[in-house]
Amino acid sequence: EKGTYDHYMLKEIHEQPGVMRNIIQNYQDDNGELKIDKAIIDDVAKADRIYIVACGTSYHAGLVGKEFIEKWAGVPTEVHVASEFVYNMPLLSEKPLFIFISQSGETADSRAVLVEAKRLGHKSLTITNVPGSTLSREADHTLILHAGPEIAVASTKAYTAQIAVLAILSQVVATAHGKDTGVDIIPELGKVTTAITAIVDDAPKMEQIAKDFLETTRNAFFIGRTMDYYVGLEGALKLKEISYIQAEGFAGGELKHGTIALIEEGTPIIALATQEKVNLSIRGNVKEVVARGANPCIISMEGLEHDNDTYVIPVVHEMLSPLVSVVTLQLISYYAALHRGCDVDKPRNLAKSVTVE
Ligand code: M6R
Repeated sequence: EKGTYDHYMLKEIHEQPGVMRNIIQNYQDDNGELKIDKAIIDDVAKADRIYIVACGTSYHAGLVGKEFIEKWAGVPTEVHVASEFVYNMPLLSEKPLFIFISQSGETADSRAVLVEAKRLGHKSLTITNVPGSTLSREADHTLILHAGPEIAVASTKAYTAQIAVLAILSQVVATAHGKDTGVDIIPELGKVTTAITAIVDDAPKMEQIAKDFLETTRNAFFIGRTMDYYVGLEGALKLKEISYIQAEGFAGGELKHGTIALIEEGTPIIALATQEKVNLSIRGNVKEVVARGANPCIISMEGLEHDNDTYVIPVVHEMLSPLVSVVTLQLISYYAALHRGCDVDKPRNLAKSVTVE
């Protein structure tokens, strides 16, 4: 039930700190060690390449997960949109492992790939919120998100849960490969939990940002680099699906290769700046669009902030910043849709789970 919240989406956004705590609890044993079935670890550790397959928001979580698996566990990883993979299968490695990411576990496009992967005799792991779902039953292994039912069509808590579970999995696989990542993931996720709590408590500020930047606009652009680029893609999807504002996310460096032609007086640009290595370059991109009249909303992280940033998220491990920065974008999208009179929980033309190809 929605309880005191006006919409399921708002409730589910606010549930995210609790979801992080559930994940921490469920993926830890009594000694505080990370807990994932040995059979899963063995199969993942045996793979020479991982193919992540998903759709929509789950695909965006996969993009973040790829960074964990490559940077922490050292396993080459590709992320694919399921509906494309089915018709245009990439050249597979010798020992591939498929990871399906799906909140519902019922997405037909992803299932079509699973059927093909099984036909080819490859191992598979489904990361889902729904135990007993089709993708869970049909894959070799399952990791559960422990996010609780997600009712709103716009996925929020499943996305952060997917990223947290992928982070834990990557750490475990790194250990299996004898690698020390230097990251103590449970305390880091603890910091993430505190940071998400601070942001949901700041919801009135996100409402103000939605008013200042998105109340009447026709379109909006999200820019970021590296991890922030992926979060921008998710921010744009969230905004477009519930507010019907035409929104696009792209890599900051790509601006000058075309998209900058769309910038007009007052065009909102939501820029994410949570990554030290690219902090100055993304800010350079912001200057480029401001010079053409854009209205910049800059979301940065403590330690990297500049004067006049629109919102500064608490500091967390750089690789985990998507778990936190996305919450600002979820709330901004929610309030933008609300103020524009949209049916937040049930946007037009969309279904919660897409069971047709
Ligand atoms: O249940 P799944 O995670 O497989 O669903 C995939 C997409 O249909 C889903 O994430 C969709 O993009 C959401 N409506 C986004 O908010």
